[in-house]
Amino acid sequence: MGKNKHRKFADNETFANMVQAPRADLLENGLPLKGKWHKEFFKNNKPIVLELGCGKGEYTVGLGERFPDKNFIGIDIKGARMWRGARTATDNKMDNIGFLRTHIELIHNCFAKGEVSEVWITFPDPQIKYRRRKKRLTAPDMLEMYRKVLTDDAIIHLKTDSQFLHGYTLGIVEGYGHKVLDSSYDIDRQKSDNELLKIRTNYESIFRDKGMTITYIKFQLCKLD
Ligand SMILES: C[S@@+](CC[C@H](N)C(=O)[O-])C[C@H]1O[C@@H](n2cnc3c(N)ncnc32)[C@H](O)[C@@H]1O
Repeated sequence: MGKNKHRKFADNETFANMVQAPRADLLENGLPLKGKWHKEFFKNNKPIVLELGCGKGEYTVGLGERFPDKNFIGIDIKGARMWRGARTATDNKMDNIGFLRTHIELIHNCFAKGEVSEVWITFPDPQIKYRRRKKRLTAPDMLEMYRKVLTDDAIIHLKTDSQFLHGYTLGIVEGYGHKVLDSSYDIDRQKSDNELLKIRTNYESIFRDKGMTITYIKFQLCKLD
């Protein structure tokens, strides 16, 4: 491991806003904070918003600055990337920010039903190959797994450069009877007044430099009877 990465991992151990849990512990016992994020981590009752595959956590920090009345948790498996967001939030004394280093597939071991009010999925790998379809972060089974931690009226946002994932997600959302609240195949042309979409992630900058257009979908899961 490079020196820099080693230093970031060491820092991560010291950040009060960073939660890390070994996979085996999560599978066996669940995260000790499950169902207790409000009381024991944030020490308030403000709504909790997740950023899935947060990378450096630009949305977690950017939304945290704009919405002091909400709590934000960036989730990713790559600690060296999350270090950036955790460092910024620590330096700026932002008490509405957390980072959770784990696999997204395990979030139902980390949060209780109704603990999460909103989800941002920012530039995930589109997993285009058919054999990887269950890994897409908006695949039907993934959405049902998110439901296990969401409030009934939770909102999910997907921002991606992938026209494939955008179209796939629209198809899944409509096909499964979920509700599209907003959608754009090119946010610069159609949503240039949406302040929240102006937060720019690391991968967004990389894709924009390659001339890719950026898409967006906002939706809600259907109610279960
Ligand atoms: C393409 S990057 C996007 C990062 C960031 N959202 C951005 O826009 O710059 C995808 C991120 O998702 C994370 N990721 C992918 N699959 C994951 C999984 N199953 N669990 C946790 N993180 C995952 C990767 O580690 C990576 O940081």
